[in-house]
Amino acid sequence: MTNLAVDTERLKEHRQQFPALQNKLYFNYGGQGPMSQPALDAIQAAYIQVQEIGPFTGASNRWIFQQVEAARDAIATELNVAPSTITLTDSVSTGCNIALWGINWKAGDHLLLTDCEHPSVIATAQQLQRRFGIEFSTCPVLETLNEGDPIAAVLQHLRPQTKMLAISHVLWNTGQVLPLQSMIQACRQQNPDVLMMVDAAQSVGVLPLSLADLDVDCYAFTGHKWWCGPDGLGGLYVSPNALEKLEPTYMGWRGVNVNPSGYPIGWKPDGRRFEIATSAYPLFVGLTAALDYQQQWGTQEARYHRMLQLSRKLWEQMTQIPGIQCLKSSPPESGLVSFQCADAQHQQLVKGLEDHQMMVRLIVDPQCVRACVHYLTLESEIDQLTEMISQLVPSH
Ligand SMILES: Cc1ncc(COP(=O)(O)O)c(C=O)c1O
Repeated sequence: MTNLAVDTERLKEHRQQFPALQNKLYFNYGGQGPMSQPALDAIQAAYIQVQEIGPFTGASNRWIFQQVEAARDAIATELNVAPSTITLTDSVSTGCNIALWGINWKAGDHLLLTDCEHPSVIATAQQLQRRFGIEFSTCPVLETLNEGDPIAAVLQHLRPQTKMLAISHVLWNTGQVLPLQSMIQACRQQNPDVLMMVDAAQSVGVLPLSLADLDVDCYAFTGHKWWCGPDGLGGLYVSPNALEKLEPTYMGWRGVNVNPSGYPIGWKPDGRRFEIATSAYPLFVGLTAALDYQQQWGTQEARYHRMLQLSRKLWEQMTQIPGIQCLKSSPPESGLVSFQCADAQHQQLVKGLEDHQMMVRLIVDPQCVRACVHYLTLESEIDQLTEMISQLVPSH
């Protein structure tokens, strides 16, 4: 087991490269991760490089192409899949939209969601219902946080007409980690045609991942949360099987092959078919640098291991504070720790903490406060946060 105290000395040095961590106590990694100086520098250097050699020339386009493919490779390595399975997007929501709109929906088809999905996914389901007359429904996984079986909850709501299951790997409100691999196997047994679309906003950069082993169809993520990359760059993994079944909805020059006259003659053979057109390319360089900087501190397993030690510490300290109840009745399996106050003044607590430079966020369903720890978190930050919460929350 890694020693937290030994890690801390090395971490303090590593953290000095994060401007955002120098003047506050940051517990909002699930909203947006802070960027390291190497990542910020890489973005600036890339913008300058493009101006110096272009901006639009054969040389700059070749350079950009190399940077885009380097980012794709770095992402694929983290997820343990082939680079050809990765589509580069701008956000989690865009990745979810590509998968959700990719089916040729017919009236009467069914889409299954859980009751813990992000508004982006719910809004997309609502729009699919308006456009195509599909049905969508939700299955109850929120109530399985401490007891009960999330797999059974999903299976009970899967229908013969269900074409897709949209589900988060780590629930953004409670931090629950769903048993995705067993769930996918069980769903396939019941309905072999259903596609599994996973919102990975809170799992990428948290859990050590090997998507090939998970056997998932679509896995939508972003670089700007737990990977601490720039906002505006995310991705979507599409399995070879799902690639056969999904069609691109938006088209542009990046997604197609052209003949010698420049006329489009069909989709790119791999994940690039869902990419559209010009992007803020220096962000790709920034994400590659962000991933590289995290790896310099430790492997995915080492980062997750430290995160779990820290989230357990936070959870244990929170359970000792009168007037506070953690949603989870056992130590967290992710970096998210959600809790409720007996006086239900959650917004006031978030504001009170922010006034003391301690950043957490309000969750509205269920009403609670969410504090996130990362491998970047210091034990002393957790002590200060829990001390301040015990001062701000009335104990009776
Ligand atoms: C579970 C989940 N899905 C989707 C999103 C939206 O992310 P993005 O803005 O990258 O689309 C978030 C952001 O907080 C999230 O937590």
